[in-house]
Amino acid sequence: MSQPGLFITFEGGEGAGKSTQIARLHEWCEAQGQSVLLTRQPGGTAFAEQIRDLLLHQHDALVDSKTELLLLFAARAQFLESLVRPALAAGKVVLCDRFTDSTFAYQGGGRGVPMAEIQRLADYVHGDLSPDLTVLLDLPVATGMARAANRSAADRIEQEDRAFFERVREAYQARAAAEPDRIVVLDAAQTPEQVWQALQTEVEGRFSW
Ligand code: TMP
Repeated sequence: MSQPGLFITFEGGEGAGKSTQIARLHEWCEAQGQSVLLTRQPGGTAFAEQIRDLLLHQHDALVDSKTELLLLFAARAQFLESLVRPALAAGKVVLCDRFTDSTFAYQGGGRGVPMAEIQRLADYVHGDLSPDLTVLLDLPVATGMARAANRSAADRIEQEDRAFFERVREAYQARAAAEPDRIVVLDAAQTPEQVWQALQTEVEGRFSW
């Protein structure tokens, strides 16, 4: 990618602790003097947040998997053009809670949508844009589901069964194995402090600020 900024995405299953680690990295980047845009998928812009609401909070809707996939990429196209590309062009660090690896994991692994179809949409919507670093917080599914059960109500996709989340985890792991330079896997079963130490070491090793 030839943008002056940095695009860092966070991925993982239920209860992996993404929010905690993103918040810490956000704070740390700012302490290094970086200008940061913190955002999320699906969502990030007012328009795309409405698509998020449709996707995640219509619990009684029977959503066809193609419809779900296209809505995710519709929201993503708008998000990239109006938010992420301008921020990267302005030299910002963009921290994003989930991105297209989630689509490969959840819609590809979880729902069984062919990976090649997701790749075609990704090629169309991303163009030349790809994360500089993706942090995958990996956790056994049972541990993640137990952690998530203590939190707020599950969204429409989080209501899937354990087998679904096992396929999500496998798909994430396969992507990490295929792209080891971009995707860093951190053991999210550790304490939040241990995960943060590993994350900080990784970021310091890669980017000289
Ligand atoms: P979260 O932001 O709280 O992690 O929730 C987002 C939900 O959306 C989560 O259940 C995963 C799901 N999701 C997909 O299924 N595909 C995607 O491409 C993205 C970005 C999220």
